[in-house]
Amino acid sequence: MDYFNYKQGQLYAEDVSVKGIANTYDTPCYIYSRATLERHWHAFNNAFGDHDHLICYSVKACSNIAILNLFAKLGSGFDIVSVGELERVLAAGGDPGKVVFSGVGKRDDEMRRALEVGIRCFNIESEAELDRLNSVAREMGKAAAISIRVNPDVDAQTHPYISTGLKENKFGIDINTVEAVYLRAEKMPNIKVDGIDCHIGSQLTEVAPFMDALDRVLDLAERLKAQGVDIHHLDLGGGLGVRYQEETPPLPAEYMQAMMQNERLKDYQIIIEPGRAIAANAAILVSRVEYLKHGEDKSFAIVDAAMNDLLRPSLYQAWQRIIPVTETPEDAETKNYDVVGPICETGDFLGKDRQLSLEEGDLVAVRSSGAYGFSMASNYNTRPRACELLVDGDQVHQIRRRETIEELFAGESLLP
Ligand code: LLP
Repeated sequence: MDYFNYKQGQLYAEDVSVKGIANTYDTPCYIYSRATLERHWHAFNNAFGDHDHLICYSVKACSNIAILNLFAKLGSGFDIVSVGELERVLAAGGDPGKVVFSGVGKRDDEMRRALEVGIRCFNIESEAELDRLNSVAREMGKAAAISIRVNPDVDAQTHPYISTGLKENKFGIDINTVEAVYLRAEKMPNIKVDGIDCHIGSQLTEVAPFMDALDRVLDLAERLKAQGVDIHHLDLGGGLGVRYQEETPPLPAEYMQAMMQNERLKDYQIIIEPGRAIAANAAILVSRVEYLKHGEDKSFAIVDAAMNDLLRPSLYQAWQRIIPVTETPEDAETKNYDVVGPICETGDFLGKDRQLSLEEGDLVAVRSSGAYGFSMASNYNTRPRACELLVDGDQVHQIRRRETIEELFAGESLLP
């Protein structure tokens, strides 16, 4: 089920016409569906039943404070990777006691702020970081709760899409050598060992690699227990994929059921950090066709959104569906288009080889843009970032206004 559908030939976001929104707020614009965001969050949450758990929505996927606030009201926790994301969570009314702090390069000031507001847990990525946190916490007279992010080295041969859980990746500590680090951490006066953390990659479309990693994490927890290190929670990270094109990832409920069937989980609180699976299909990026350009064997639709608005196609050659906002009649003539932006880079495209029927001034929607869409937007080519709108039933809320040109260089100064 989806909340972006055609009704009488017009694309709707929940109960509001996308064309109407674009005419009011101009393009490019991101349009989110509240019902979709909440449905996805609940899908994860319900799957736990009464098992002790915490959903820490991964803020980097989509970090608008209105959206964080929706999740905070549902009782969500948050996975952050910077003090900037922490301040967003706080501004959104999130509970710092439900925040986990991931990332390989936490600075002293970030650690201090996180300790000051009392976050739930630091996900430690290296021994050097552990030492640093111990000394920052000592200066503040506090004890920092930690889990260590382990790198389970899940077999890339069988699961080629895993990119962060392999030995050659920069993330985490090798699961085979991490015990010594846990034993050191146990003895540190300003560190409180609480859990084990593991995140093996993003846009995974199979359950098997998650299960492999989980088994390795559970084995580690048992080995640690035998050495007197008590593990209270397991953080299984994010990474569940979504359908952009023909992928068939498990649904959140199916994924969770597969994990929860593992009997050995029952002794632990489970934390998960989903981002994409909650946000991706909860938004579209709407753009207007400025010009059509017809070459001999290729046509270009030059639209007013670009790689600065949605970077995924350019950066990862990611495929996202592009649909017309006014439904194309079945007998309309279509052409093969590259849908490109106005930025001066050959890599500036939103989609290639799309069979579309277009005219100047038409509106198109790039689907599945809710995760790593606006949150990766930039001002390249001095382009103001788009506005963000959230639809709730028949209501439209502007949750971020379009930037003005003046704002883009407001912090710059001429030489004296
Ligand atoms: N936890 C950690 C420690 C992570 O590094 C990530 C994502 C997540 C959770 C959330 O993962 P998700 O559930 O969203 O897969 N920009 C890329 C994706 C980068 C993911 C980075 N880490 C893209 O647009 O595909």
